[in-house]
Amino acid sequence: MKIKSAEFETSAPTIASAPRWTLPEFAFIGRSNVGKSSLINLLTERNALAKASVTPGKTKLINFFRINTNWCLVDLPGYGYAKVNREDRADFNVAVANYIEKRDVLVHLFVLIDSRLTPQKIDLEFLNWLSTIDVAFSLVFTKTDKVSMNAVESNVALFKSTMKSFMTVSPKIFTSSSTTKRGRKEILDFIEAELAR
Ligand code: GTP
Ligand code: MG
Repeated sequence: MKIKSAEFETSAPTIASAPRWTLPEFAFIGRSNVGKSSLINLLTERNALAKASVTPGKTKLINFFRINTNWCLVDLPGYGYAKVNREDRADFNVAVANYIEKRDVLVHLFVLIDSRLTPQKIDLEFLNWLSTIDVAFSLVFTKTDKVSMNAVESNVALFKSTMKSFMTVSPKIFTSSSTTKRGRKEILDFIEAELAR
């Protein structure tokens, strides 16, 4: 799919102030610093559309980006970042959980996982919660340029087998890199197919 336009629409602290539109939304969630904002920039080929940073906890609000005028990418604040003060953290977790559970225009959630790591408790706990909710999701293993192919493959395989203990259906899996552009075409093709359904 060709990205003809990609525009920042608005930031919202909770879904109460989210855009009141009927555009289908595709959202990105995962641990702080996993590469959610970078992936949005990769997909849109706009380097600074979503604000990425080496400092975890960069994205603090729910950010809406309107793509090709008729659909939307949503950059969510990451989970598991301890330095956000406790009150904010609780708020963000509730806001993000509410977005995932209640946003009726949410079509698909991409859950980002760091491909360099063996399965982490925090991601497994999040997926465990997600599996109790009626939302379509897939996994994106990020930063594949930073490790060998073998390490990516073995971490993905380990993740899949670990998930089997609490999930009956295996989610679709993508791999990505914001430096080599790996995964861009596959994810955009997937979104295009979802939009055509
Ligand atoms: P929060 O907003 O803090 O939750 O983080 P985020 O998940 O949006 O991560 P972000 O996109 O800001 O990226 C975090 C850091 O990882 C930045 O320094 C990025 O440049 C780097 N990064 C993200 N994706 C990749 C990737 O595929 N490869 C490499 N080498 N670096 C990446
Ligand atoms: Mg971010």
